[in-house]
Amino acid sequence: MGDEKVKAAREEPDPDSYIQNLVVSDPLQESAFRKAIQILELLPGSRGLDAGCGIGLQALMLAEAVGPGGHVTGLDVSPELLRYAESKIEKSGMAARISFQRGDVSRLPFDDDTFDWVWSANCVGYETIEPLPLVKELARVVRPGGSVAILAWSSQQLLPGYPRLEARLNATCSGIAPFIQGRKPELHFLRALGWYRKAGLENTVARTFVDDVCAPLSEDIRSALISLFSMRWVDVESELTPEDREEYKRLCRPESPDFILDHPDYYAFFIYSMFHGKVTE
Ligand SMILES: C[S@@+](CC[C@H](N)C(=O)[O-])C[C@H]1O[C@@H](n2cnc3c(N)ncnc32)[C@H](O)[C@@H]1O
Repeated sequence: MGDEKVKAAREEPDPDSYIQNLVVSDPLQESAFRKAIQILELLPGSRGLDAGCGIGLQALMLAEAVGPGGHVTGLDVSPELLRYAESKIEKSGMAARISFQRGDVSRLPFDDDTFDWVWSANCVGYETIEPLPLVKELARVVRPGGSVAILAWSSQQLLPGYPRLEARLNATCSGIAPFIQGRKPELHFLRALGWYRKAGLENTVARTFVDDVCAPLSEDIRSALISLFSMRWVDVESELTPEDREEYKRLCRPESPDFILDHPDYYAFFIYSMFHGKVTE
């Protein structure tokens, strides 16, 4: 598989489509993120950073968790996403608890020990740069005894009854793109315990969250899955055999009479992994 093809598969769409993807796919991840936040037991009144906050979907949940005396700073590199996040938060009634700042996770614009905790979902770990310096940078801005949590979606089963086709789709350039960064095993997100160990974090724990959906699907979930299909498997057809290509079009295209989401027995699940640890006191 050529590096250029994998790189192209990782390229993000224009900001408007990206925002749309994040909005539409949120119903598939919201409950896993809520469970993860619960496990972190963020202290009421604490101050945290949401690194790579996107459109602020989790900044809101985090702000709920820390209560009225707490504060969340959402940081992202994209001004368009931050603008969307700001307008969303204004309508939420929690604007006093949340602020946004443009910045790069690899060079955080904050002093050492600024926060009680940092959270980064679907960002650190999927970066094209080395993850260890990023984890160290997150830890730098957290006070001793505070926590660093990174979370990302790590696998899924979306095509019940078609494991071979799904495996082949996941082995295409776009299907594999989030998981083969640098191709070194130790850079894979599921090896984040090593990043934490090398960054000197303590009490590191890996946790797994599973979410599932089954027929009949609500409109929200159906749209989220359609969006997920298109994000997971981009331009895959040229990499499939003619038979797999036909099967893919039959099962994964909304206009097909056999679209798998319309099957009365449809069931799918998604797995998210979270790594969290404490900054040495
Ligand atoms: C897949 S989105 C996840 C957004 C949000 N955390 C969520 O789960 O809904 C990844 C986010 O990371 C941001 N991002 C990517 N590289 C970044 C960097 N170097 N510094 C800050 N943000 C970055 C992107 O702009 C995007 O908003």
